[in-house]
Amino acid sequence: MQTEAMKMFGLQAPIFAFSHCQDVVAAVSRAGGMGTLGTTRDSVEDLENMLGWIDDHVEDEPYGVDIMFASNAPKEFENMSAREIIGLVPEEHWAFVDEILQTHDVPPYSKAEKEEVVETYIKEQLRTHAQAEARLEVVYRHPKARMIVSALGVPPSHHIERAHSLGLKVGALVGHPRHVKYHKAAGVDLLIAAGYEAGGHTGDIATFVLTPQIADAAAPIPVLHAGGVMRGRQIAAALALGAQGVWAGTVWLGTSEAETTPIEKDLMFSASSGDTKRTRCGSGKPVRRFQGGFVRAWDQPGAPEPLPMPLQSVLVEQAFKKMRNHQVEGLLSPPCGQGVGMMVEQTDVRNIFLEMLTEFGETMEKLGDMRDELAA
Ligand SMILES: Cc1cc2nc3c(=O)[nH]c(=O)nc-3n(C[C@H](O)[C@H](O)[C@H](O)COP(=O)(O)O)c2cc1C
Repeated sequence: MQTEAMKMFGLQAPIFAFSHCQDVVAAVSRAGGMGTLGTTRDSVEDLENMLGWIDDHVEDEPYGVDIMFASNAPKEFENMSAREIIGLVPEEHWAFVDEILQTHDVPPYSKAEKEEVVETYIKEQLRTHAQAEARLEVVYRHPKARMIVSALGVPPSHHIERAHSLGLKVGALVGHPRHVKYHKAAGVDLLIAAGYEAGGHTGDIATFVLTPQIADAAAPIPVLHAGGVMRGRQIAAALALGAQGVWAGTVWLGTSEAETTPIEKDLMFSASSGDTKRTRCGSGKPVRRFQGGFVRAWDQPGAPEPLPMPLQSVLVEQAFKKMRNHQVEGLLSPPCGQGVGMMVEQTDVRNIFLEMLTEFGETMEKLGDMRDELAA
């Protein structure tokens, strides 16, 4: 059996993965699915190296690259200096974030250190049009990359045309049925219905009602179901809802290939599905994260409102860097979906594929038996 999304890339399994880790991406593609690399955490130079590494480790299998097109990023940011952008963050916010760190015995950066770290972040990673363009140029130089995915918003049509001329497919995440028509008009090849329970940026519509609506609105464009997929029976359910495959992110965080730290992995293995929260405290837009000390601090009375994207990232990315270095269990709040409640211990990508595909096959058989019984 091959779904339309599998046929598009010649895949053996209807499993697409989102990950910031090059090892996960290559392992997923080698296992018969389609790994897709997130590009928001690294510089353009890092991306060049990572895609080179994936090319060397993916054999002849396809992979994708996820780009934050920043359709909503204010244009004026493109022409501002890092100092000017830093100046847009209110003092109250800088002090609040320092205080969160101090409460958990993590020393904040000094003023001079912070300026340096934030300036580097703005130069290398701020979600602007210029950053998206520079990343795309890197992708276009790597012919084994077969798909570009827009993380937020409709991909610009000149990029869809360029990608198509190079034989790349273009996909996009959508969280609301009303957005589908804009993607269709722009000419995307694949849509990813990202529902409420998903890790990372996500809308507020649950997948059970989102996927069928997106699939109907998008037809004949194939749709992937994203949100909560941890087991094979959920792949069967996603196909039943009208999807042509699944797009999963959280499930790979607990693998040996992932760069998730041992403390973060332990947090996730003992977490329940109620331990995550959609919050604007990481990027300025709703992102589902583990509800650790950093997330909880923004919910306390008197906490400031998170800033709009991309200013909130300017404010908090330096604190995330400190948090990564110090690994204080009570503070860490990594992005992850509600599926985290189904993660129990470290495994690897190949094993996840084996378990998912076995359970998927068993579920399809059971459903066939049920259909026969119901018809009898
Ligand atoms: C740690 C993490 C980081 C993410 N970062 C991005 C991102 O940069 N771009 C993007 O398109 N999606 C991102 N996502 C969302 C995924 O693309 C996907 O929609 C989501 O993981 C699916 O739900 P699941 O986590 O329940 O599998 C992220 C997800 C996770 C778990």
